[in-house]
Amino acid sequence: MSVKNLFGRLFGKTAAPAQPAPPSKLDAELREKIRRSFDEASHDEEHFPSTIDPRIQHVQILLKHFGPLDDLTVLDAGCGKGRFARVLHEKYPTAGIWGMDISPEMLKYVPDEIPTKTGTLTEIPFPNAMFDCVYATESLEHAVEIEKAVGELCRVLKPGGKLVIIDKNAEHWGKLDTPAWEKWFDRKEIERYLAKDCRSVHSQFISYWEDVEPDGLFLAWLALK
Ligand SMILES: C[S@@+](CC[C@H](N)C(=O)[O-])C[C@H]1O[C@@H](n2cnc3c(N)ncnc32)[C@H](O)[C@@H]1O
Repeated sequence: MSVKNLFGRLFGKTAAPAQPAPPSKLDAELREKIRRSFDEASHDEEHFPSTIDPRIQHVQILLKHFGPLDDLTVLDAGCGKGRFARVLHEKYPTAGIWGMDISPEMLKYVPDEIPTKTGTLTEIPFPNAMFDCVYATESLEHAVEIEKAVGELCRVLKPGGKLVIIDKNAEHWGKLDTPAWEKWFDRKEIERYLAKDCRSVHSQFISYWEDVEPDGLFLAWLALK
């Protein structure tokens, strides 16, 4: 037992188990495996919901960081069923919001008014500097080639554009069941990747509800290109 865990045992706390090294390359075989897994999971509305309560802080942080979205172009990268895009579209119907996901079956749930494309975070199928705002909620953890994916999120963002990544904290690894390719993040690691292309980067812990203290599971990284 490590000194950290022994200390934790004695004082009633145990450190999170270390993440096993996930695969480092998103080759064609792994991409297909991930696509198939999410295509199958698309029927599971309980774990992959198509709607979200707009009061949840994950939504609020997007709204706050982006500001008014009227007439702006927005990318939901790894959008799943488009639950976030749906809220943004309802609030800002003139925004040009796109959804992108590896799973065509997930995309079938995205409302028709929101255009979609299939693709991967590591090769986002949009030109450079197309979007005013880009966000990825709980999708980067599946991207496998994380630094490349963060670079792609920044590439499709206009200079002056705003970016939000919401994902899980590596310090809480083990709290949930995870597939072999999933990775949770060290706060500084993602900040470092973002800082390569963005001029303002910071991160913060978030909880679901405004009046509940964050438990440390979720982090939001906010950047300005
Ligand atoms: C946990 S779900 C989150 C979906 C959505 N962002 C949300 O918060 O409701 C993860 C999503 O990431 C997608 N995904 C996984 N790997 C991806 C990749 N390499 N590129 C794009 N999307 C990916 C999955 O198909 C799935 O829809």
